[in-house]
Amino acid sequence: MRSPDLPPSFSLVAFESIDSTNEEGRRRAASGQARPDEVLWARTQTQGRGRRGRAWISPEGNLHCSILVRPDRPLADAAQLSFVAGLSVSEALAGLAPGADIRCKWPNDVLAGGCKISGMLLEAVPPFVIVGIGVDVVHAPDPALYPTTSLRALGCLAEPAEVLAALVARFGHWRDVWLAQGFAPVRTAWLQRAYGLGGPVTVRLDTETAQGVFSGLDETGALLLDTGHGAPRRVLAGDVFFAGSHL
Ligand code: BTN
Repeated sequence: MRSPDLPPSFSLVAFESIDSTNEEGRRRAASGQARPDEVLWARTQTQGRGRRGRAWISPEGNLHCSILVRPDRPLADAAQLSFVAGLSVSEALAGLAPGADIRCKWPNDVLAGGCKISGMLLEAVPPFVIVGIGVDVVHAPDPALYPTTSLRALGCLAEPAEVLAALVARFGHWRDVWLAQGFAPVRTAWLQRAYGLGGPVTVRLDTETAQGVFSGLDETGALLLDTGHGAPRRVLAGDVFFAGSHL
């Protein structure tokens, strides 16, 4: 497998096949083997995991990786790493597919032309946060929830190693900005790439469905849902769907 060039602080651990790079990150963190800024990369995953207990189909040709971050921040702040990751992936993909409309979808998907092209799953095993990232490089699996696309479908011929190098470079940049300056600059840049900002949105929560206008992010990263009744409602977790699309 071709090795990517990663920025100096990051080190690569590559696997032909593994159950899940996030699961491997958990094992390493739990056993004391994890090192900060280790990047676990697998050509395929046999038990790739998505958000909310979903499976993540992980065929050869797509990118499956987990970055082991040791933020030395309270866990509540560490959740902001999902915006660091989403922003980094969106910038990396925008660089690789310059004509495409690449957007960040709350809380941590990346869309191209309104179709999902990347998803992220963050898991905490203190003091580490495992930032798992999947990018549809060649294959766009056909999940029930969202339309999907791939870099290849956008005309980009990059291989997973190249995509990994690009996204880790952006991740290093934004992670350092976040550590030095806090969430504000990350939030501003993320909002500039946000999908559906200012438009109607339906949020499917664990026990209810809420509707309103996606009016922004608060200073912690919660989605602000303007329901037309008083102050915007803060949404901390859920699936969001935008009007007029499946997303
Ligand atoms: C989602 O959109 O539901 C999140 C998908 C996250 C997939 C990545 S692939 C690498 C890492 N290992 C996993 O098992 N999941 C994440």
